[in-house]
Amino acid sequence: MAKAREIYLDCGATTPMGTAALAQWQAVVQEAWGNPSSLHRWGERATMAVERARLQVAAAIGARPTEIVFTSGGTESDQLAILGLATGAPRHGVISAVEHAAIARTADLLVARGWQIDRVPVDGGGRVEDLAPFLRPDTAFVSLILGQNEVGTLQPVAAWGKRCRAAGIPFHTDAVQAGGRVPLSVTELNVDLLSL
Ligand SMILES: Cc1ncc(COP(=O)(O)O)c(C=O)c1O
Repeated sequence: MAKAREIYLDCGATTPMGTAALAQWQAVVQEAWGNPSSLHRWGERATMAVERARLQVAAAIGARPTEIVFTSGGTESDQLAILGLATGAPRHGVISAVEHAAIARTADLLVARGWQIDRVPVDGGGRVEDLAPFLRPDTAFVSLILGQNEVGTLQPVAAWGKRCRAAGIPFHTDAVQAGGRVPLSVTELNVDLLSL
């Protein structure tokens, strides 16, 4: 009997590694496996690989290499961004109602610490409604997902970013799901922080 054909339809969650990426990964773990903080030549090789990657990522999103911070993944990037913005005295933040759990649960954590978080609702098409009524003089940050992870809606990040910049409010976008699917430019998106 013929074996049933399996079709994987969860590429939004993860994908098998592409051949080119696999070759790069293999080269790095075999040739540049040192600790980049080490001063010897094994460390130097690792440093060069990391710095080359930093240049590539920066170029891919129109950022400066010094602005790139490598993390273990999407959740850690989102948490680092939000908790990094939530350090000061104003304790008000704005997110959308359709953020990934990495943002929504981090916002819950802030609420447990006494923060007020507004969650902007979405319309029937899954797009966030107007942000303006939620912005306050004491708003410490705004975070809006770029590509929604369940329904794929692309949110109006550039417009929100422009509005926040005019108001002097730090603006973060979760582009974990959008990366590699739509062009990303941190300048065109008007974002201060982007998780990728
Ligand atoms: C939009 C979005 N943000 C954050 C994450 C979390 O990323 P990770 O699973 O790498 O922690 C995901 C994961 O699918 C995601 O889709």
